Amino acid sequence: MNGIFRIFAAAVITFVTVGAAYASEVNLYTARHYDSDDALYQKFTDATGIKVNVVSGKGKALMERLASEGANSPADVFITVDAGNLWKVQKDGMFQSINSSMVDNIVPANLRGPNNEWVGIAKRSRVIYYNPLNVSEAEMAGLTYEDLSDSKWKGRIAIRSSGNMYNQSLVSSLIANHGEATIEAWAKDFVGNFARKPEGNDRAQIMAVANGEADIAIANSYYIGLMLSGKKGEEQQAAARKVQLHFPGQDGRGAHINVSGAGLMKNAPNKSNAVKFIEFLLGEEAQAHIVNNTYEYPMREGVAPSDLINQFGTGFKEDATPVASYGEFNPTAVKLMDRVGWQ
Ligand SMILES: [Fe+2]
Repeated sequence: MNGIFRIFAAAVITFVTVGAAYASEVNLYTARHYDSDDALYQKFTDATGIKVNVVSGKGKALMERLASEGANSPADVFITVDAGNLWKVQKDGMFQSINSSMVDNIVPANLRGPNNEWVGIAKRSRVIYYNPLNVSEAEMAGLTYEDLSDSKWKGRIAIRSSGNMYNQSLVSSLIANHGEATIEAWAKDFVGNFARKPEGNDRAQIMAVANGEADIAIANSYYIGLMLSGKKGEEQQAAARKVQLHFPGQDGRGAHINVSGAGLMKNAPNKSNAVKFIEFLLGEEAQAHIVNNTYEYPMREGVAPSDLINQFGTGFKEDATPVASYGEFNPTAVKLMDRVGWQ
């Protein structure tokens, strides 16, 4: 089924079942939309007898839908990317705490909402890609996000616009660690080092490094796996083979970490099924499925990331800054990025 039809089909299902006492279903709103997810949900149904009704769409559209449905929303679970987005839903009072010792045991405290309203189901790092033809190993050694304000990087950095949540969360994490004034000064110099006006998505930044338009780029870790997989076409696959991945901050705080996550809706009509579903997502089978489809890092220890991303290094140091702080500092970050002229 194509995406639009799925939304309408699921909308009909959820409309029909609202208010009815179906003990054996769970209503999922998800910004993940992989065809292979259907097979995963079927496994959950086979194991538990609980049917999964899926409403899939863009994260922003789903958030608007949740807000407009309010207390009458049939949604039990919301899945989206970036702690900043999960924070927004939480701030609007639309989640409730997930009470599950299984979830508590798997998800570290820094990768959850302040009251366990949402939890990470997979991790991603925002890393630095470089072109070995234009940047030496010595230049990359020990490189941190903070170092990128140095004038030696003038005209060499590619990164997407400040409207992007991934960048807002990165800047929020820097503010959480260094304070607003320090990061404003840093950001001014950092923006001054851009190779070009921000344009395109994360993969476009990696392409810019591959074709020499920039020497280094900041983009999420899983995109190199996606490009190398060939799912985005031969041109991107060839470009991905030309770049290398650097994990910043390995001698300090560690590389910036963000999550894909799931939240439990405040008015979940099928709350206990919803908790079972979130527990299922953190199980070994679902974790392996997720990381092999998205090239993210697993939340659960003992599950191996896809080889396409694992080849760049395992066991790198992860920044333990609570991802909930990205939401907390988001308004400050957005204004700061605007003031320093980050387009
Ligand atoms: Fe992404």
